[in-house]
Amino acid sequence: MNEGKLFECSYTSSISNLLGRKSLLLLKGNLHKRMHSLTKNFISNSTNVRDHLFFDINRIIRFNLDSWSNRVHLLDQTKKITFELIVKQLMSIDPTGVDQQWTESLRKHYLILIDGFFSVPILFLFTPYYNAIHARKKVAGEIRVKVRERKREMMMIMTERKEEKKDMLGMLLDVMVGKREDECSNNNTKSVGVNDSEDQLVVEKKVVLLEEEAEEEEEIVDFLLSLILGGYETTSTIMTLAVKFLTETPLALAQLKEEHEKIKNAKKEEKDGQLEWSDYKYNMPFTQCVINETLRIANIVSGVFRRAMTDVSIKGYTIPKGCKVFTSFRAVHLNQEHFKEATSFNPWRWQQKKDADQVGPSKMMLNVFTPFGGGPRLCPGYELARVEISVFLHHLVTTFSWAPAEEDKLVFFPTTRTLKRYPIHLQRLM
Ligand code: HEM
Repeated sequence: MNEGKLFECSYTSSISNLLGRKSLLLLKGNLHKRMHSLTKNFISNSTNVRDHLFFDINRIIRFNLDSWSNRVHLLDQTKKITFELIVKQLMSIDPTGVDQQWTESLRKHYLILIDGFFSVPILFLFTPYYNAIHARKKVAGEIRVKVRERKREMMMIMTERKEEKKDMLGMLLDVMVGKREDECSNNNTKSVGVNDSEDQLVVEKKVVLLEEEAEEEEEIVDFLLSLILGGYETTSTIMTLAVKFLTETPLALAQLKEEHEKIKNAKKEEKDGQLEWSDYKYNMPFTQCVINETLRIANIVSGVFRRAMTDVSIKGYTIPKGCKVFTSFRAVHLNQEHFKEATSFNPWRWQQKKDADQVGPSKMMLNVFTPFGGGPRLCPGYELARVEISVFLHHLVTTFSWAPAEEDKLVFFPTTRTLKRYPIHLQRLM
C-alpha cells in the first residue's frame, strides 16, 4: 500500500481527538513499525491465541450465551461479548468476576465515544461530538487507574517474585518501564562520587524521567483505548451480520450447523469436552467461508483514509501531493467483475477446490479481497477476530435455534449495522 512512501494514513482532527495522539492508527514511521509488530505479536500470534487467549474466548462467550433470555437484540449482545473479550485480553480484567461492573460502565462510555465518530464535530454543549469527547476523557481516566494499579502490582511482583500477568498491558509496561530503568541506572552510575553541580544535573535528569514516565503513561492509555475501539465494534458487527445472512440463507445455516454439531458430538467422547484451538484451525472450513462472505458484503471498515505524500500517478490520473484519498474496499468487494452476483450472500464461493470440477475462489478474488487492509497497516487483530467469530457461531448454532423477532434492515450509513440491532427470538436446544 506504499505506506510512508507515496501515501500516509490521514484522519481529520475531529477523529484524531477521539482516537488519541498515540493510537496505533495515527503513529507513523519507525515507532509505528515497532508498535504494530508488538501488537501483532500479542493479539494475532497463533501460539499466543492458542495457548492463552482461546480459553477465555470460549469461556466468556459461553458465559454470555448462558445468560441470554428468549429475546435479545443480537447486535447489543455481540457488542457486549467482544468488548468483554478485548478488555480481558488486553488488561486481564475479567467480566465474569468482580470486574463485571467496571467493564459494563466502561462499555457505556465507549458507546457514547463511538457515536462521536459518526457525528458532526461541533463542540457545543451536549452535541454528540461534545458528549463523545467527554466520554473519551472518562474512558481514559478509567484505563489510567488500571495502568497505575498494574504498575504497583508489577513492583510487588518484583519484590515478592509472583507470577506476572501475560497481557498487552504487561507487555507495554515491560517495554516502557524497562527502557526507563536502563536510563535510570545509567544516571545512577554516573552519580557516584560527583560534586554539587553534577548532583543538580542528576536531579534535573530525574525530573525529566518523571515527566517521561507521565508521558509514557498517557501513551499506554491512548494505545489501549484505541485498541479496544478497533477490536470490538468491527468484530461484533460481523458476528451479527453473519447470523442475519445465515438466517436468510437456510441452506448455508444447515451446512454450518452440521459442521459444528460434528465438532460438538466428537467432544462428547472426550474427557473435558471443551472446544479447542485445533477445532477452530482444522474443523471449521465452512465457517471460514461464512466469515469471508460476511466481511465481503458488509464489512464495517468500508475503506481506509490516506494522504498523498507526493504527486502520484495511477492509471493515467494524477493525485496531487497533499490530497486526501479514500480507498474503498467495498467498491472492490462488491464489483461484479471480481465477484459474480456480488450482492448475494454465497459462502460457497470461498470453498476450496477438492476435485478438478469444483469451483474454488479464483486467484483474482483472493488478490482483491482485503477486509483487514494490507501492507504495514494490515489489521493486527485479523486472526483474533476470526477466532472470536468462529467460537461465537459454534456456541450459537449448537445451543439455540432462533428466528427474527421483527423485520430488520441492513444499512451502510453512517455505519454498517442493522437498523433495529437485529432482535431475535431464541429457543434453547435440548
Ligand atoms: C472483523 C473484524 C475486524 C476488521 C474487519 C478489521 C479491519 C481493519 C482494517 C481494514 C484495518 C486497516 C486500517 C488502515 O489501513 O488504515 C485495521 C487496522 C487495525 N485494526 Fe482491525 N479489524 C478487525 C478486528 C480487529 C481486532 C479484533 C483488533 C484488536 C484486537 C483490531 C485492531 C486494529 C488496529 C490496532 C489497527 C491499526 C493498525 C495500524 O494502523 O497499524 N482490529 N483493522
